[in-house]
Amino acid sequence: MARKRCLMIGAGGMAGNWIRRFFPPFADRLEVVGLVDVKPEVLAAAGDFLGLAPSRRFADMAAAFDSVEADFCAVVIPPAFHQQAVMHAVRRRLPILSEKPIADTWQAAREIYRAVRAAGLKMQVIQNYRYNAPMLTMRQVLRSGDLGRINYVVGRFAADYREYGAWGAIFRHEMPHALLVEGAVHHFDMLRNLSGGDCATMAGWEWNPPWSTSKGEFCNLYVMRMSNGVHASYEGSGTAGGEQNTWHEEYYRAECERGAVAVGRDHQVRIYRFKRGGGLTTEEVPTVRPTYEGHLWLIDEFLTWLDGGPTPATVLEDNIKTTAMLFGAIEASRLDQTVDVAGMAGGAGE
Ligand SMILES: NC(=O)c1ccc[n+]([C@@H]2O[C@H](COP(=O)([O-])OP(=O)(O)OC[C@H]3O[C@@H](n4cnc5c(N)ncnc54)[C@H](O)[C@@H]3O)[C@@H](O)[C@H]2O)c1
Repeated sequence: MARKRCLMIGAGGMAGNWIRRFFPPFADRLEVVGLVDVKPEVLAAAGDFLGLAPSRRFADMAAAFDSVEADFCAVVIPPAFHQQAVMHAVRRRLPILSEKPIADTWQAAREIYRAVRAAGLKMQVIQNYRYNAPMLTMRQVLRSGDLGRINYVVGRFAADYREYGAWGAIFRHEMPHALLVEGAVHHFDMLRNLSGGDCATMAGWEWNPPWSTSKGEFCNLYVMRMSNGVHASYEGSGTAGGEQNTWHEEYYRAECERGAVAVGRDHQVRIYRFKRGGGLTTEEVPTVRPTYEGHLWLIDEFLTWLDGGPTPATVLEDNIKTTAMLFGAIEASRLDQTVDVAGMAGGAGE
C-alpha cells in the first residue's frame, strides 16, 4: 500500500508532538508532504526535523491547500482556526484527521458537520483518552457485565492552572469557556465512552472564581442523564488547590449493580464489591496493553479507514454528540436550565 501523503496544519505545540512522537511509528504508512504554521521559527524547526523542502513549508494555510498534493490533512492548531482549515480541506476534497474539539463554537461545529457530510468526506476527531491503557481496562470491565448494569458514572478533572500561563498555550487563559472547550470535551467524551450512552439532557454551571488569573471560565459542575438511562456527573477545575486529577490522572468511577469500578491518579483500575457482613473487597484489574495507545491508536485507525478498513468510533458523526455536550453545557449554564443535548446533536445537520 502506498504511503499516505499528509498535509500537516500546525507545527508547534501539540502538532510538535504529532510530528516528533506520533507520526514516526507510522513512517512506512504516511509521510508529511506539506507543513503549515504561522510562527516562522516553529515552522523551520519542524520542517528541518521532517527534512521538508522550503517550498513545502507554509505560513498561510490557504497557499498550502492550493499547492500541495496530499491524501489527507491533519488539523492540529487552536480550535478557533479549525473551521478555516476544514473548509479548505472540503474545497480540496481531502479527508481530515482533526484534534478535538471539532470547533470553538457550536455554529462553527455545525457548519463543519454539514460541509464535511455534504462533501461525503471522511473526518475523524482525536479522542485519545479513550485509548489509554487504564481507560481501555475500565471500559472492558464495564462491558464484560461482571458488575451488572451501570447505575451512574462520575468524572473528575482537577489541575492547578491558577498561575497565568500554567496551562500550556496562552490561548487557554484568554478564551471564553476555556475549561469546557479545551478540557471537558475529553471528559464528556469519556462519560459517553464509559456509560455506553449518549447525553440526553444536561444541567449545571461553568464559572470563573474571582481570584482566577484567566479570562474564561475555569470551573465546571454538571449532571447528565444518558440515552440508556445511566446518569453521570462531572467536576472540572482549572483552579484546583487540593488533590490533583490532571491529564492522564483523571478520576472516573462507575457505580454498578454488583459493585463499582474506579481509576485515578495511579492509573490502576480497581473493582470494589461490598458484601453485607463481609465488608468491602478491592480487586486490582490487570491493565490492558494495546499495540497502540492514545494518538497512535487513532492514527492507525484513520490510516486503516482510508484504506477501506472499519469506520473508527470517533468519526465526525459520532463526535458531534460529544461536541453537543460541550455547547449544551455552555447553554445550560447561561440559561440556568436543563438542556436537551440529544436534540442539539440530532439537529446539528439542519
Ligand atoms: N488531544 C490532546 O490530548 C490535546 C492536547 C493538547 C492540545 N490539543 C489540541 O491541539 C490543538 C492545538 O493546540 P495546541 O495546544 O498545540 O495550541 P498552540 O497554541 O500551541 O498551537 C499549535 C500550533 O499551531 C500554530 N497556529 C496557530 N494558529 C495557526 C493558524 N491559523 N495557521 C497555522 N498555524 C497556526 C501555532 O503557531 C502553534 O505552533 C487544539 O485543538 C487543542 O485542543 C489536544
